[in-house]
Amino acid sequence: PNNEFKHMVEAHTLAANFYSHLLLNTVEGEEALQYLEKRGFSRESIEKYRIGWSLNDYSALSDLLKRKRFELREMEQAGLCIMKDDGTGYFDRFRGRIMFPLCDDLGNVVAFSGRTLSSGKQEAKYLNSPETPIFEKGQLLYNFHNARLNVRKTGKVILFEGFMDTISADRAGVQNSVAVMGTSLSETHLIKLKRIAKEIIICCDGDDAGWEASKRFASMALKKGMEVRIALLPGRMDPDDYIAEYGEEAFREKIIANPHSYMSFIMSYAKRSKNLSYENDVLQYIHEVLEELASRSSPIERDLYIHQLSTETGITVEAIHQQFMKMV
Ligand code: UTP
Ligand code: MN
Ligand code: MN
Ligand code: MN
Ligand code: MN
Repeated sequence: PNNEFKHMVEAHTLAANFYSHLLLNTVEGEEALQYLEKRGFSRESIEKYRIGWSLNDYSALSDLLKRKRFELREMEQAGLCIMKDDGTGYFDRFRGRIMFPLCDDLGNVVAFSGRTLSSGKQEAKYLNSPETPIFEKGQLLYNFHNARLNVRKTGKVILFEGFMDTISADRAGVQNSVAVMGTSLSETHLIKLKRIAKEIIICCDGDDAGWEASKRFASMALKKGMEVRIALLPGRMDPDDYIAEYGEEAFREKIIANPHSYMSFIMSYAKRSKNLSYENDVLQYIHEVLEELASRSSPIERDLYIHQLSTETGITVEAIHQQFMKMV
């Protein structure tokens, strides 16, 4: 690696250690530590994921970086500092946030995501590093370096949309998970995952955005030729909420060990916005499911789901089958 890369990674490692020290050993970090404890974070996961705290201060990290002979101009390009409006110097990007280091595939810290402690909507919940020479958002999968071995061993990878979910799942004994940073999954992500896993289990949040994401991720992974399953959560919970509410064992046994097939997910998805006691909704429902079925080649699957549609709606198998033949 070139010098720029090396300096930037060194600075991130220094910052991660600094933030971790502030969280674990200082009075200023106490509130954040209590917040994490209240959310069920164990000391073990705080250490494993190198979680930290950035002081509510404009120069705490910049001062440290300067003392360690890093050039702040370069640190600005690394996303750690921001140039003052009048151009006279730099200040810290992350202030007063719980700091989550984001690591590349080798475990180098290359960026941060910082969570606010306040639940108000005035500021973004998470502040992320910008794209830099060492951090490409569309490339990074949270926890990839930790999960890789377990993914290879099991042949399965669990995909979450938030890194909080990965940390909680790990604590619950699910150690083959990664997370995208929000609701976008890229080709690069999938290529990376396909190299180490045959099967992907998509487990997004239970809100509308999460269901949309599940559908999008699932069809992308199918196109890549992976085996796809979708784990669904009750209500509008996310995996971390579910673990807090129902416990680790329920999460492992009921959610992760019991994911839906793609078609079964599609049926739940299509039903979600409908009321099957309305004629129009029934027609629309059948149409949506058949459309998906038309692009699936297995005759057994076709038969299975046409029968299921018939049972659910009371329309005869023959009628649904005829409709289907018009669509393929
Ligand atoms: P969520 O809103 O589902 O966050 O966003 P979460 O993981 O449940 O967080 P908690 O439990 O409320 O603390 C999922 C992912 O979207 C990205 C983050 O990467 C987060 O992990 N995100 C979300 C942002 O980048 N910025 C935001 O303001 C919100
Ligand atoms: Mn979400
Ligand atoms: Mn969430
Ligand atoms: Mn959450
Ligand atoms: Mn939440």
